[in-house]
Amino acid sequence: MQMNTPRVVALLWLLWIAHTYADDRVLRADIHHPHNTPLKDVAVVVTVDHEQSLNTITDHFIGHSLGFPNYGVHLAPYVESEKLINIARALSPMWVRMAGNFVSGTPYKVTRGALWDKMNLFFKTVGWDQIHVLDDHVHHHDGSWSPDKARALLQYSAAKNYPFAGFELGNEYDIASQHSNKTLTPQQLAKGVQTLRDLLGEFHQYNSSFIMGPDTAFVNPHFFKGFLSAGGSTVVRAATFHQYYFPGPQGKLSYFTNITIFEKLSRRIDLAMEQAHAVNPHLPVWLSETGSASDHGSAGLSDRFVAGFLWLDKLGMCAKKGIQSLIRFVFYANNDYYGLINKELNPNPDFWLTVLYKRIVRGAVFNVTGRHDVRVYAACSNTNKLVL
Ligand SMILES: *[C@@H]1O[C@H](CO)[C@@H](O)[C@H](O)[C@H]1NC(C)=O
Ligand SMILES: *[C@@H]1O[C@H](CO)[C@@H](O)[C@H](O)[C@H]1NC(C)=O
Ligand SMILES: *[C@@H]1O[C@H](CO)[C@@H](O)[C@H](O)[C@H]1NC(C)=O
Ligand SMILES: *[C@@H]1O[C@H](CO)[C@@H](O)[C@H](O)[C@H]1NC(C)=O
Repeated sequence: MQMNTPRVVALLWLLWIAHTYADDRVLRADIHHPHNTPLKDVAVVVTVDHEQSLNTITDHFIGHSLGFPNYGVHLAPYVESEKLINIARALSPMWVRMAGNFVSGTPYKVTRGALWDKMNLFFKTVGWDQIHVLDDHVHHHDGSWSPDKARALLQYSAAKNYPFAGFELGNEYDIASQHSNKTLTPQQLAKGVQTLRDLLGEFHQYNSSFIMGPDTAFVNPHFFKGFLSAGGSTVVRAATFHQYYFPGPQGKLSYFTNITIFEKLSRRIDLAMEQAHAVNPHLPVWLSETGSASDHGSAGLSDRFVAGFLWLDKLGMCAKKGIQSLIRFVFYANNDYYGLINKELNPNPDFWLTVLYKRIVRGAVFNVTGRHDVRVYAACSNTNKLVL
């Protein structure tokens, strides 16, 4: 990258940064703190180390999830609408993670027939690449996974040439016992993904599709590292985990600007990196399901302007800490509070941030040091400028 005199474009959310001066490695930013009355300028010096890149932002850095059948079914009546198609295209190219019911993944009964055909036509039209969470529904007594129903899905989809970029097997098995009577050990899940790899080999269309896992709700050595060291790491393209900052119903306005809350993600990523890289130092790590507030979001908060602080901080932190892709939950939530678009199919503020980020940020990511309570991240733009 050529950047003797860094030129700066700022991705502004609240107009905190009035202007920046650049002199080689030190950027001085004058910050207006909006809660101070009268407005007081606070000078903050941040140092951007642009000698070394910490990560590479691709056009697939951000993805999103579509719950299926639930949210997907609710979206289905609109998939031919020009408005929805335009909104969806604005995010392309993008992963769409078809995540189904808790634990089981997407039920097989909805992955064949008219509804399935309609969703696949929509994905093709808007340029979304599907990552499919397979229903792990059929387990034998010994915990081994039976691929028969998945084979039927793949046969149906292969006959119609529906592409699958990747697959996951089941969802959040580390906390499955809280939600269902189905439990699986990390070793059993690692065997399951190997069986899935063998199954994909039966189809030339899906032979090069990737598998991700273990898709845990948390990152604990027993399950996350246990899965990877039991053979999972040789099958998956990326080690995957999930993260939300707090349960939606408990969400408060102050949580969305509280640095202590922001930092929860930092620890989770560090744990995932440590455990994954202890098994294989080169294994990519993905944050495969994430948002601000879990459990349907926080009413009037996680779908509003203020949600942008946590979302932008998450994008910056994931980029800086080497996460290869992150997948936002969820694209559309008809009665919930964390969608990128709302019930009326109008974009929420996080949608615009996502579109801006995707359009502007591309390539190298730089280390920024400065004040902990002033969140500044730096990366390259698609026109080879520096984005703060
Ligand atoms: C677990 O199994 C018991 C006994 O079969 C049943 O009563 C209970 O509802 C099940 N719990 C869940 C969460 O499925
Ligand atoms: C799948 O890929 C493997 C390894 O490249 C190859 O040996 C095998 O023939 C492929 N199978 C199909 C069905 O294309
Ligand atoms: C931020 O959150 C932490 C942890 O919940 C809490 O202890 C602290 O008081 C909060 N700070 C503000 C300014 O609300
Ligand atoms: C960023 O720079 C700081 C200060 O030099 C250093 O402590 C930290 O390890 C660096 N972070 C990364 C990810 O390199």
